[in-house]
This record gives sequence, structure tokens and C-alpha cells, in this order.
Amino acid sequence: MPVSPSASPLAPTWLRLPDDPNLLAPSVWPSSAARDADGGLVVGEVSARTLADEYGTPLYVIDEADVRERATATREAFESAFAAVGTSAKVYYAGKAFLSVGVARWMAELGLGIDVASLGEFMVALAADVDPARIGFHGNNKSLGEIASGVRMGVGSIVLDSRLEIDRVADEAARAGVRQKVRLRVNSGVHASTHEFLATSHEDQKFGVPLGEVEELVALIRGRDSLDFLGLHCHIGSQIFDTGGFSESARRLLAVHKRLLDGGPVPELNLGGGFGIAYTENDDPTPIGAIARQMAAAIAETCAELGIGIPAIAVEPGRSIVGPGGITVYEVGMVKDVTVDVDGLDATRRYVSVDGGMSDNLRTALYGADYTARIASRVSTAAPQLVRVVGKHCESGDIVVGAEYLPADIAPGDLLAVAATGAYCWSLSNNYNYLGRPAVVAVRDGETHLLIRRETEADLLRRDADFDPTADGSAR
Ligand code: LLP
Repeated sequence: MPVSPSASPLAPTWLRLPDDPNLLAPSVWPSSAARDADGGLVVGEVSARTLADEYGTPLYVIDEADVRERATATREAFESAFAAVGTSAKVYYAGKAFLSVGVARWMAELGLGIDVASLGEFMVALAADVDPARIGFHGNNKSLGEIASGVRMGVGSIVLDSRLEIDRVADEAARAGVRQKVRLRVNSGVHASTHEFLATSHEDQKFGVPLGEVEELVALIRGRDSLDFLGLHCHIGSQIFDTGGFSESARRLLAVHKRLLDGGPVPELNLGGGFGIAYTENDDPTPIGAIARQMAAAIAETCAELGIGIPAIAVEPGRSIVGPGGITVYEVGMVKDVTVDVDGLDATRRYVSVDGGMSDNLRTALYGADYTARIASRVSTAAPQLVRVVGKHCESGDIVVGAEYLPADIAPGDLLAVAATGAYCWSLSNNYNYLGRPAVVAVRDGETHLLIRRETEADLLRRDADFDPTADGSAR
């Protein structure tokens, strides 16, 4: 591919020099994202400028219609793909990606269950009046309190993650006088983040139990009257593009599932979440309908080979439902050019500092994640310039977008939007340097709906046990 003369030698090879650094690639931006007559970014028919003026920056903005559409499309895709092979499918929304009372209500209303991984997530779902029977409770280290809450509130299933947990949940259910539905989380040995299927199930990680121990552990589960065994569970990873991993994992689980049928019913199989999304134009995720059909075909074929009936299927996607519809709006502060030596030649990296950073988007620092950014307050005819979008934290790794081409005249006061931040940004947010976590606002048809309000310095100070709110000069 011929390299354009103005492509920066500092740009990663995957980053294409854009013809127009104002364009909003539909694969990356929320479905309602557009430019208004003044060139400003609009989502859900509300401009980024209006949102910034009303709610401040940084601000998480969620295109409600986009999220609802993906939730519905996911449910319908799995229901129809598995109906076509003669079984049913349930979709649980993985709340760890982003959960608020409002979003939990959307999911319940759209017919999805909710997967929670802590008492906190469970309480949010309950506060949204989600039927506990439609909630799955996860975690590799559930506390006794979490187990008790789940059991006593009537949680639909608890995903057992270890041998020890079998007794813990069984004892609690016995004390409560209920029969608790449980799944057993299995480590199938398919490790998707390596983009290859490991041959062994003895992975060096904390989740689940090895395939080789499943029969013994299910016998223990079946031995407890207070437990009702639903089936096996497996989650092979997250942000997965190679969809063959889901089918391979299902095949491995079904071989064990078949042996379990000798000892009693195994009505379900839960294959977790992990479907990848586009963070940049370089990402090409498989559409959810195709993933569902591939999984259904592989499961139907495997069950036919094994001579067993096809179990009811469950999946737990989070990112692919809430990720693409979310953006973060920042205000640009400092802009600074740094000269970098590349093979003896000087190259410029322009650092664009925004008013948030690794406190509202930890994914870049944590995983080296790539993102797409655009000026949100205007369009510009200036030539594309390689920039690095950084935050305001006291850490050189405080990077929001490692490399992006933006109009060269980007300046303090511009609004900058980062795409695809709906999943695992608010939920991983933190208070580094005593920054309050941003607000989350849903937009739809020109209306805004605040989901979570901004955290203030006063909120943070109020938790400081030595803080005297009556003293002078305090942030009351
Ligand atoms: N089910 C289980 C048991 C999980 O552990 C997860 C994610 C999901 C479902 C949902 O996966 P999803 O469809 O959202 O990929 N913080 C990381 C992602 C961690 C995912 C943890 N488990 C990130 O920001 O990329």
C-alpha cells in the first residue's frame, strides 16, 4: 500500500491517514451519530455542545436507541438461530460492562435477563425491579453474604466457580429452605484472547473448574438436595473476533455434558459473552446474527454426532450490547507538540490533553486498547495531524487514545468525542487524583435522561472520616 507523504512515521501501521479527519465511521460511532448544520457532533439528536453545557465534561453519553436495538437484535438473533435447530436461547446482559438502574430497566423491558458479578450489581438490578429469577449470579470469590443475598432473594441461578462453593451455596439454600438453581463454570481450555485454541484445559487462571473435574463436581452438586443442576457454563474471554472459539468451546463442553446425562438431566448450556466490537475502523466484528447462527449450527452438529438432545442455550454478552452506543465527550485543554526521533529523523507527536483520562477510561492503560476520536464541537478543513489524546492524571501512561489523526487546528476549548466507550469505561472508572467520576446521560430523539450524576469533589471528601464538614474552608 503506498504510504501517503503526510502519514506520520509515529503512526501505528493499522492507522490509516484519513481523507477527512471529521468523518464519523458508521462502524465505530453510535447509530444516531451525525454532524449538525454547524458541524457539531449530534447523538440521539442532541448536540455534544448542548450536553457539555448542561452536564459538564468529561461526560459519558449513551445513544439509548442504539443500545436498545443491539439488546433486541441480540435476543432475537439467539432466539431465532436456536429455534431453527429446535431449542430455546436466553440472553443475559452482562452488567459488568455498564449497569445503572435505568439500563437494567431497559434490558428487562426488552426481554433480557441480567448477569451480575457482585452484591452491588445484584442490588442495582433489584433496584430496577428486575425479576430475581431472571438474574444470574457470578464470581470466582463470592462472599458468604453475596451467596446468602442471592439465595434469599430468589436469584435465578448461581454460577458455581469452585468445589468449595458447592457446599457454601448448598448449605445456604438448605438453611433458607429453597432449592437453588446452579450452573458449574468450566474452563474449557479455549482461550480466545490468544487467538488460538489451547489444547489443554489446565489454564493458569482463576476462573472455573477444569473439564477433567466436572463429572466429580456435578456428582457432588447432584448429591445435595438443596441444589438444582442446570448445566455447564463457560466464558472464553472478551472482545473476541474469531468466533470459531465459541463453537470449539461448546463442542468441548458438550462432550462432557453428554456424560453428565447418564446421571440426570442437564437442561441448559451457558456459553458466556465476549463478542467483539469495533473500536476503530480497522476492527471488523462478525454481526451478531451470524455469530448466533454459527453457534447454533456447531451445537446442533455436535449434539447430533454425540446422539444427544440440544440443551437450552444461554449467552451473556455485555460489551456488544452497550459498548458501541456509548461515547465520551471531553473538553480539550493543553495542546503540545513533542519532537520524537524516528530513525534519525524528527517527527512530531501532538499531545492533546483532555479533562479526564485514565480515571474515566482505564482500558488504554490497562490493555493498550485502541480508540477513535473526533472533534465534537465543529468540523475543520485543517489537514490531518497525528495526535495522542492524553488525560490530566499524574502518570505518563495516562493515555486515552494512543494514536489518531485529527484536524491540525485542534485547540483548547474544542470538545473531543471518543467512540465506543459504552462498555467497561464507567464500570472501570476510578477517582485517581481525586477526580470525580463523570455523569452518564442517555440521549434519544432529542431528549436527554440522566442515568448517573457526576461525582463531585464534595462527594469524595464526604467519605473522608477525618473531614469536618462544619469547619471553615471546606468543600461543603
Ligand atoms: N460472562 C462472564 C462470566 C464474564 O466474565 C464476562 C466478562 C461476560 C459474560 C461479558 O463479556 P463481554 O460480552 O462484555 O465481553 N474489562 C475488560 C473486559 C472484562 C470482561 C470480564 N468478563 C475490558 O474492558 O475489555
